[in-house]
Formats: sequence, C-alpha cells, structure tokens
Amino acid sequence: MNIQGKTAVITGGASGLGAACARMIAEAGGRPVMIDLNEEAGKALAAELGRGAVFVKADVSDAAAMETAMKSVGSPVHIGINCAGIGQSMRTVSKEGPMPLDVYERIIRVNLIGHFNAIRLEAWAISQNEPDPAGERGVIINTASIAAFDGQIGQAAYSASKGGIVGMTLPVARDLSRLGIRVNTIAPGIFDTPLLGRLPEDVRQSLGAQVPFPPRLGQPNEFAALARQIIENTMLNGEVIRLDGALRMAPK
Ligand SMILES: NC(=O)c1ccc[n+]([C@@H]2O[C@H](COP(=O)([O-])OP(=O)(O)OC[C@H]3O[C@@H](n4cnc5c(N)ncnc54)[C@H](O)[C@@H]3O)[C@@H](O)[C@H]2O)c1
Repeated sequence: MNIQGKTAVITGGASGLGAACARMIAEAGGRPVMIDLNEEAGKALAAELGRGAVFVKADVSDAAAMETAMKSVGSPVHIGINCAGIGQSMRTVSKEGPMPLDVYERIIRVNLIGHFNAIRLEAWAISQNEPDPAGERGVIINTASIAAFDGQIGQAAYSASKGGIVGMTLPVARDLSRLGIRVNTIAPGIFDTPLLGRLPEDVRQSLGAQVPFPPRLGQPNEFAALARQIIENTMLNGEVIRLDGALRMAPK
C-alpha cells in the first residue's frame, strides 16, 4: 500500500518506536494520528510534524476511550501501527512471596488486550474503505518483542503479553483476509528508546554489545523502516518478523 495521502493510526506514537513510525509516515506523505497517554510529548510531535498530524489522548486498554479516539480521527484510516506497551520485571516468586496477580494482569491488560482493542477498531475503520485495484483496504502492524520467544528471568508477564500478540497474528490476518486487510507483527530486539534511555550509559553499552551483529542497540528509525516495508509490500501477511541483529536473550 502506498503511504502517500493515507492516514495512519499509531498507538504509543508519542515516544520511541511509535514516534519513529509517525515521522516515517509524515515523511512518506501520510497523515499520522498518534494515540498515547503522554499528552506533552504527543502534542509536541504533532506540532513538529504538521501535515495534519494530530495527537489523541487515550488508554489503549480502555474500550470506550479507544472507540471515542478512533471516531475523532476525521479521515479514512488505511494503516494501524500498534506500539503502545509497558514493561515491568518481576519474578514469579521472590523473597517477599508470590508475584501479586495485579502486576501480571496490568501488563497483559495494556500490552495484549490493548493491542487487540486497537486492532479490532483499526480493522473496523479500515474495512469501511473502498479496496484499491489490488483488492487491498489497509494494513495493521503490531509490536511484540523477542521476549515472546526468549523471555528472561522476571519476564513472565511481559513475555506472556508479547507471546499473545505473536499468537494472534495469524488468526487475525486470516479473519481480516476477506476484507483485504493485512496483519503483521514486528518482534524487536533491544532498541534505543526512552524505555532504555533511563538506564545508565554503561548498561546500555553492555546491552548493545550482546547483539551478534551489528553489536549495538537498534535505532527507532530501523524499526520504522521495517514498518514501511510491511506497509508497501503487499505479499507480507500473517507474519512475525524478528528485528534483532541475531540476538537470542540469555536467561538473565
Ligand atoms: N525499546 C525496546 O528495546 C523494545 C524491545 C522490544 C519490544 N518493545 C516494544 O515496543 C513498543 C514501544 O516501546 P518503546 O521502546 O518505543 O517505549 P516508549 O516507552 O518509548 O513508548 C511507549 C509509548 O506507549 C505509551 N503507552 C504506554 N501505555 C499506554 C496505554 N495504556 N495507552 C496508550 N499509550 C500507552 C507510552 O506513553 C509511550 O509513549 C512497546 O510495546 C515495547 O514493549 C520495545
């Protein structure tokens, strides 16, 4: 699908990987709509990008808030890029006792249920489009993590949430195939975003050095470049793509 003139809804679009996708969409002549909780960063990015870019505040895990957010978009939606997500590391059992269930629930709620909430509403909006000459109405991209496959100690909840995104990629692509809507998932390795920016420089360096090649953190624009290829390459569908420099995470 050609991005020129198309509207892309980007959850988590105020920061990191989502913000890089918003920039990519604007550079390709599309209109990014960033849905995020971070109002300050989202509004600043929308003002910087121009081209009708807007920020809409909503919690991806809230059904009603996301329905309202999608109704406010104001133009046909052809692209959904889902990046909103949170991380929290906690062992299943620690000296303090078993992991509180609400910690597990919160991560599943935002990362997994939040992803599906965005997917269902983006798919509905995209289904209203006239198909292009190739029969395509639009495309949805999700963000999992390599933790879906090689989750580390403390990542039971995070890995489960990302594994859920991996698991639903094919069935959702199959569900939406009759509508001409493609669905793919990117599973990033370690990327240099505000999520990691809070770590000390030596920790960031050592994380990057664990990557076989290139031995560094991924850049958000490399994630956005893959998102662009997924949008533009009609044959890519129902797939989960690792973007990780051959990194396989150790237990810790
Ligand atoms: N950075 C990495 O190394 C890495 C690796 C693997 C996967 N990921 C995944 O990539 C995605 C983006 O991460 P990032 O590194 O850009 O992090 P980030 O913290 O820079 O961006 C995430 C954005 O999501 C927003 N968000 C969080 N909860 C939300 C909610 N309930 N509703 C709406 N918005 C919400 C935040 O406000 C933030 O702007 C996440 O799903 C993360 O799990 C990141």
